[in-house]
Amino acid sequence: MTKKYIWPVATRLAHVLIIIFFAVAYVLGDFDELLNQHVAFGLALGVVFVFRVIWGFIGPKHSRFRDFNFSLGDLKEYLLNPCSKTKEYEGHNPASSYAIVAMIAVAFLTILTGMLAYGIQENHGVFSFLHNSYYREMEVFEEAHEILANLFLAIVGVHIAGALIDKFIKNGDAIDSMISGYKRATEEVKLNFSQKIFSFVWIAVSLLAIFYLLFTNNVFVASHNVKQDYAALHEEFYNECGSCHMIYPPNLLPKKSWIAMMKDLENHFGDDASIDDSLNHSILAFLIKKSAENSTSQASLNILKSLKDVNKTVIAISKTPYWDEAHKDVDDELFNSEQVLSKANCKVCHIDIEYGIIENNLIKIPKVEK
Ligand code: HEC
Ligand code: HEC
Repeated sequence: MTKKYIWPVATRLAHVLIIIFFAVAYVLGDFDELLNQHVAFGLALGVVFVFRVIWGFIGPKHSRFRDFNFSLGDLKEYLLNPCSKTKEYEGHNPASSYAIVAMIAVAFLTILTGMLAYGIQENHGVFSFLHNSYYREMEVFEEAHEILANLFLAIVGVHIAGALIDKFIKNGDAIDSMISGYKRATEEVKLNFSQKIFSFVWIAVSLLAIFYLLFTNNVFVASHNVKQDYAALHEEFYNECGSCHMIYPPNLLPKKSWIAMMKDLENHFGDDASIDDSLNHSILAFLIKKSAENSTSQASLNILKSLKDVNKTVIAISKTPYWDEAHKDVDDELFNSEQVLSKANCKVCHIDIEYGIIENNLIKIPKVEK
């Protein structure tokens, strides 16, 4: 069989975009500060795959799902003879036919659970309307998302291993064909006019999608967390408790911590912060009303959870186990630096924390000279 041009430019470009978008999304998943960017690459991957599915119905020979080889007999023979040259397949071999369909299915599930996690956990994006009802279950969606993403990676691993075996053991041309477009086949693939238009739109929209998702405050990443104007909500709290330090959002400690703290303001972290009784009651009532138990935020839930196994009453947010966990990768030197001064000086690194907002994309770590 001679080599024929069977993979159009759009298919090969889409393949490259899938590789890049998945790799970047996967790596960014480890960086909290870059969650929005992680979401952007994940969604852009979804866009490429939506077009790929349509292409599976309207595309040319070999790209259509009905040209895939789903024969179990062929698959068995293909997998059981990894090293010998078996039948030669035009287009996708049985293993890659299954891998592609599995990847598309797992990609959509990964993206869906990711969007759900983003909405429910962070109150961001199109599923944020579910935040108030399901925030207690927030971790379920994140875990499902991680399992699916790793499943996707595993399929990719098998797919790459298959491609390498094809090239180096079977002397096949699958990898080369994904670059050049040429593969041993009986006939050349030619796109008709509408397929050409579709290919162009596929690549153009996928590229526009990544720029749109990364660089605009669009509905897919927008935050629905509402700033709390503590000055307006409780003026005395704002003035009194903001006179020595930043405003600590009341939702970052449980009721019993606020009660304990307000009982002993004379010995408040080495300072005397005492106030008269009626003011004390009024501020305490406000702190309780806005305490972690009455908040749907991720930080509140995590702080409450982490305090469950702690016997003594913790009155510093920075002394909760969750706080330690969240900052375990932050250099201690940074907290003691001239710019930050103290772990309790949250606002240096967390923009808008004084409005009760803790967003991954609002973390700014100050540059410290050593
Ligand atoms: C006289 C000054 C003063 C006043 C007034 C004051 N504080 Fe403090 N507060 C401090 C100091 C000092 C610390 C320790 C800060 C540090 O560790 O860097 C502290 C720490 C805290 C912390 C712990 C921060 C953390 O997570 O490490 C909380 C919460 C807090 N204050 C709440 C309040 C509240 C609520 C009020 C109002 C009722 C209040 N403070 C009024 C001086 C004050
Ligand atoms: C020196 C900078 C710095 C200071 C000060 C600081 N943080 Fe952070 N905080 C970070 C960084 C960086 C992360 C993200 C860590 C990571 O993901 O590796 C983080 C993460 C968090 C998270 C978890 C966010 C999430 O969604 O994962 C919470 C909640 C948080 N900080 C609250 C606080 C509070 C409350 C204070 C003050 C008592 C504080 N931080 C002080 C830098 C700081």
